[in-house]
Amino acid sequence: MQYGHFDDEAREYVITTPRTPYPWINYLGNEDFFSLISHTGGGYCFYRDARFRRLLRYRYNNSPTDVGGRALYIRDGDDVWTPAWMPMKSELDSFECRHGLGTTKIRGSRNGVSAEMLYLVPLGETAEVCRLTLTNESSSVKTLKVFSLVEFCLWNAWDDQTNFQRNFSIGEVEIEGSAIYHVTEYRERRNHYAVFGVNSPIAGFDTDRETFLGLYNGLHEPEAVLEGAPRNSIASGWAPIGSHCLEVELAPGESRSFVFVLGYVENPVEDKWERPGVVNKEPARALMARFSETAQLEAAVAELRDHWSSLLEISTVESPDERLNRMVNTWNPYQCMVTFNMSRSASYFESGIGRGMGFRDSNQDLLGFVHLVPERARQRIIDIASTQFADGSAYHQYQPLTKRGNNDIGSGFNDDPLWLIIGVAAYIKETGDFDILSEEVPFDNDEANTATLFEHLRRSFHFTLENLGPHGLPLIGRADWNDCLNLNCFSETPDEPYQTTANREGRTAESIFIAGQFVYTTPDYADLAEYMGFAEEATAAREHSTQMEAAILEHGWDGEWFLRAYDFFGQKVGSHECEDGQIFIEPQGFCVMAGVGVDDGRALRALDSVAERLATPYGIVLNQPAFSRYHVELGEISSYPPGYKENAGIFCHNNPWVMIAETRVGRGDRAFDYYKRIAGAYLEKISDVHRTEPYVYSQMVAGRDAVREGEAKNSWLTGTAAWNYVAIAHHILGIRPEFDGLRVSPCIGAEIQNFTVSRRCRGAVYRIRVTNSLKHDGPLLKVNGETTKGTLVPYAPAGETVDIDCET
Ligand code: BGC
Repeated sequence: MQYGHFDDEAREYVITTPRTPYPWINYLGNEDFFSLISHTGGGYCFYRDARFRRLLRYRYNNSPTDVGGRALYIRDGDDVWTPAWMPMKSELDSFECRHGLGTTKIRGSRNGVSAEMLYLVPLGETAEVCRLTLTNESSSVKTLKVFSLVEFCLWNAWDDQTNFQRNFSIGEVEIEGSAIYHVTEYRERRNHYAVFGVNSPIAGFDTDRETFLGLYNGLHEPEAVLEGAPRNSIASGWAPIGSHCLEVELAPGESRSFVFVLGYVENPVEDKWERPGVVNKEPARALMARFSETAQLEAAVAELRDHWSSLLEISTVESPDERLNRMVNTWNPYQCMVTFNMSRSASYFESGIGRGMGFRDSNQDLLGFVHLVPERARQRIIDIASTQFADGSAYHQYQPLTKRGNNDIGSGFNDDPLWLIIGVAAYIKETGDFDILSEEVPFDNDEANTATLFEHLRRSFHFTLENLGPHGLPLIGRADWNDCLNLNCFSETPDEPYQTTANREGRTAESIFIAGQFVYTTPDYADLAEYMGFAEEATAAREHSTQMEAAILEHGWDGEWFLRAYDFFGQKVGSHECEDGQIFIEPQGFCVMAGVGVDDGRALRALDSVAERLATPYGIVLNQPAFSRYHVELGEISSYPPGYKENAGIFCHNNPWVMIAETRVGRGDRAFDYYKRIAGAYLEKISDVHRTEPYVYSQMVAGRDAVREGEAKNSWLTGTAAWNYVAIAHHILGIRPEFDGLRVSPCIGAEIQNFTVSRRCRGAVYRIRVTNSLKHDGPLLKVNGETTKGTLVPYAPAGETVDIDCET
């Protein structure tokens, strides 16, 4: 069943009923200020850090779901309704939500009044702006009252929902004209506040939640609105809100627009006050002046549209399959931007307080983002590398506001360091900016202890080598990519976090995943070492990789597939000898991507085992059989009920590794088939089962052992976005930047016969026409009409256009 459709022209997903199977959200914002907004207007916004600088309050596990953040009420005579449907669940005559690239437009109508809210965060602004357009579609005059509502979060989102003995006494606001200022804690150490203004005189306002709603009322029954009378309340403690009341008279056919601005403002510490006790509002007034006319807002919308057009035209495909085109051209890169911005911090499944930027996650997010805004990728690399320790290990997460490693989580995830090499290599391939390797970057943010970025990579590489176990395979530490495979944890105590508890300091548990990752990383690392003039290091690295490959083949092969790990006791994990969890997806994907076993048939065997044992119609599950009981020696993975999350769920993030592996062995049909099983646009018709947004990937889909098979969770913030982009764009469509040229090597099987790709890279444009007749052994290329050898097209000077004909 479908709840809307794609509008490819407008690059929007159009939701046509408010009753979607789950709130379907969008992200507004570009660099510093971000909003989450659902199709019924729920959500919240924050400046840089969803934990420390949250503007709006949001209750995650609430019932009903998705109330809070913002609301807008219309009072038409005695009839009170909410055009976004929530929170009053008003019966609407029409409803539509258009989630676009950085914009969300929600329109509802009732009894001859239509209200359209267009939300965006304009480029360069730290504010969410909303244009409300009211239209009288009836034949009589309408006299309306409009009430806005936002509920302020007291900045620190964790404190906001835990420290009530303090919080109920600290809320403060100021009012000036039509602007409401949320200034809690400004009197002491904060030099920032929120402003909520509207470009029109108001008939009244409210800032105290209890006065506006009534103590025992929900957002669907606000007393002030039901009575049609704002109270002009001034919050003092308790729960500060912002609500304007506008009186609007509309002749038949008349429309009027208003612009609401919800902004974050920071003052220089020495300029905090206008006069004693009165907040300096100058920057807020200037912000609101920039949106005092609707034309200014429309210009901001146009600017944002152009911005996205110029980003998306960097890489486009035209194929006969419109679902493929819309994923590759629009929605997948869009999600990559969101994951780059958010890492795993704030979504409808990530509360914004638990996790900051992941070391591993953010490096992977770069892979799908780097072609969009390489300068931001560069900065991100420096930020991530600055949280690395001098021994090459890394903080697992850092806070975006402070850019400091997060001590609560600490380090010890032994795959982390290698991801830095993978991220940096992707950046350099895209940009040719080898100079980044010579940048001085601190360890653990200590400016007194710095080294070049290349030295950081060297330490990453050697960290793995210095931490090998009894079989010559890398020690897993707290966990590798699979955060939930905790082989040193041995937790029998509830409330003890699996990922930060190491009850045994073992140097025995080894990861075949990290081994595969090491072999995968080595060619790029060695090339970069050579580039830096460290030829011996390059040679040594390649030798280490050969040894690692040998160790995988000797100790990491189970007969039909690659093993997953050795546990603390040296027992096999992911072997046919095991009771549960006999085969895991991760090592099959990563070892084959690295080329292990490609020459001797083991790669094919491993991938066939994936097809036989792990592939399902909804995607490839993580392991089989699912763990049916808790295994103390394996940790969190076995804590999940069968079929969910890492215990035999379809953990979409690792599916593209198998797709890429399939292209490595030349099986494009299989790769593309797996692609279609998890790509949103192909799942639109089963939205009632899948439940999450059909325009983005979800982290997890319940596997075949689950009660709710096929149901997705954790949409938006997942490494699936970046890796699936890499799988489809780089390996299946087959166009990928390498250090010294653009690789053109499609592997898509028979279904897509012909397609064209336009790719901008290092300032030149490559127009690639693929005739996918599958007649030849490998792709044959003509570059600007000339037949060339191989599949690597040397980079052209910036400004040039290169025409490539590729026949397969
Ligand atoms: C984490 C990833 C991890 C994955 C698998 C995600 O929630 O963000 O870092 O690799 O789970 O455990």
